[in-house]
Amino acid sequence: MSLLKFIDFPPLGDERGSLVALEGNKNVPFTIKRVYYIFDTKKGVSRGFHAHKKLQQVVICIAGSCRMVVDDGATREEAWLNSSLKGLLINGFVWREMHDFSDDCILLVLASEHYDEADYIRNYENFLKEVS
Ligand code: TYD
Repeated sequence: MSLLKFIDFPPLGDERGSLVALEGNKNVPFTIKRVYYIFDTKKGVSRGFHAHKKLQQVVICIAGSCRMVVDDGATREEAWLNSSLKGLLINGFVWREMHDFSDDCILLVLASEHYDEADYIRNYENFLKEVS
């Protein structure tokens, strides 16, 4: 089974344009406790390089593009995020890296928990130990 779990968000479009609604426990499979966005990422910068123990997230690229790498310690997969109509669901114990941000990239992230540094695994060797 692929680690790349995408959720489709069909646009509620009309002649004026498009709109996507995100609702916790409906089209987003958890209660949304936190929303943040990553933007203005400088050229050549990669981000992420961590896993979470408990946190679930849905990542939506609402402008521009970037390349997302996900890794469960056994398999590494990657995908371009470039659509505001698709969210990548990332569950616990998945290492993630974001690369090749376009200048206009905005990543919207919905999170199941408040920010908690204790939930992060920021060292890849420690991550491999925890998942093995
Ligand atoms: P970090 O999770 O390391 O960013 P990325 O994975 O995109 O590289 O977060 C960067 C900084 O922001 C770090 O000091 C923690 C802080 N932060 C918060 O205070 N609250 C949040 O909700 C998030 C996601 C990060």
